[in-house]
Amino acid sequence: MQMDSVCVHGGVCLQGKVRIQGSKNASLPILAATLLTKGENVVYNCPKITDVFQMKQLLRSIGCKIRERCDCVSVNADQIRSGKLPAEAVQGMRSSVCMLGALLARCGEVTMEYPGGCVIGARPIDLHLKALEKMGAIFHIENGMIHGIVPEGFCGAEVCFPKVSVGATENVILAAVLAKGRTRIIHAAKEPEVVALCEYLVKCGADIKGIGSDCLIINGAGQLCGCCMKIPADRIVAGTYLFAVLAAGGNAWLEEAPCNEMQAVLQVAERMGALCQESPMGLYVQAPEELQPIACLRTGEYPDFPTDLQSAVTVAALRAKGETVIEETIFENRFHIVEPLKTMGADIYVLDERRILIKGGKLLRGRNVEAKELRGGAAMILAGLMTNDVTCISGCKYILRGYENIGKDLRELGARVVSV
Ligand code: UD1
Repeated sequence: MQMDSVCVHGGVCLQGKVRIQGSKNASLPILAATLLTKGENVVYNCPKITDVFQMKQLLRSIGCKIRERCDCVSVNADQIRSGKLPAEAVQGMRSSVCMLGALLARCGEVTMEYPGGCVIGARPIDLHLKALEKMGAIFHIENGMIHGIVPEGFCGAEVCFPKVSVGATENVILAAVLAKGRTRIIHAAKEPEVVALCEYLVKCGADIKGIGSDCLIINGAGQLCGCCMKIPADRIVAGTYLFAVLAAGGNAWLEEAPCNEMQAVLQVAERMGALCQESPMGLYVQAPEELQPIACLRTGEYPDFPTDLQSAVTVAALRAKGETVIEETIFENRFHIVEPLKTMGADIYVLDERRILIKGGKLLRGRNVEAKELRGGAAMILAGLMTNDVTCISGCKYILRGYENIGKDLRELGARVVSV
């Protein structure tokens, strides 16, 4: 979808069904992991989003052969070369950081800019670098450029993270599957996307124990072979549409929504008064007549409430009469939507770097607002659904990083959203 701005004509209750796309945060590290394999990889249900496009650019730039048909991406990494990665793709997304572990493991060398991504906090990579150094890598960082080598190849090590990091856990996994010896990761991230990466690598021949727990044990394999993998549905996209229903009212069938990965989200929706019916085929959600505020909601590492849905739940909470406090425990700068929501008439206040107060129940007014980052941008579309007039959201390139076609999906639920 090409869109720079969308206009949302609010005031319509949602109703209908929509299929949930494949997961962004699962597909990106899996595509990076194809570098570690010999032969053909076939990755199904890959979302058609900018970040996946950029990841394919990165892989092509080092010689991977990529073929695409519908939602299926085939990658053959038999003949690759190391070299500086293209700056635009590296700086356009945070997940380019996975190339550190993957390329060092495959080629023994990596040169890339400091990875980019959304402006939601400092987003350091010290945990990634320290862990990979423990496994034998040497990094030189100058003027925002990272150069890494691993002269003797990666060696298994004991990596104990002082703090849970999804990206750093994934990098160590990528480094460890072909390393000499055994790696133990303590305080590993347990996010479903980390599990999906491990399951893909196991299919390729990797030896990983403790998948889904916070302690992973990986015995390096001599060689990995390409395989077929279906990318699981995106729990964040499903959660965004769930909160769209709560924000606008109505009901929806979210086909393929991964309910078992969304328990904390469903609990919050139910506390707000929603009816959620789970099934292996998806999720039915129905908004109540009156939403309830939540005294205190904290984001946290999986299985807690995901930071990536903090903006969407904030918008839904604006419809609940009463006060909701939201605490963001993962990132220190993730309240960009507060100011644009205020211009729409919302009673919402930043209490400190980590907490906001929402006084819900006021009708929002349509305004021209700007998306500044991916999840916050999607949440502004949800805010548009709650007005009785027109909201235009510019800066939609950020939203396209993670949503295949949010306008079309919401239109399938009856929303009036047009690209301009
Ligand atoms: C995080 C989220 C992930 C989400 C993604 C995109 C968690 C645990 N992770 O993953 O679910 O999909 O953002 O929004 O919710 N940190 C360091 N040093 C490092 C790496 C991280 O201090 O080297 C800190 C970060 O600043 C942050 C925390 O650790 O406070 C978690 O970051 P991390 O999990 O690495 O972020 P992502 O992998 O981007």
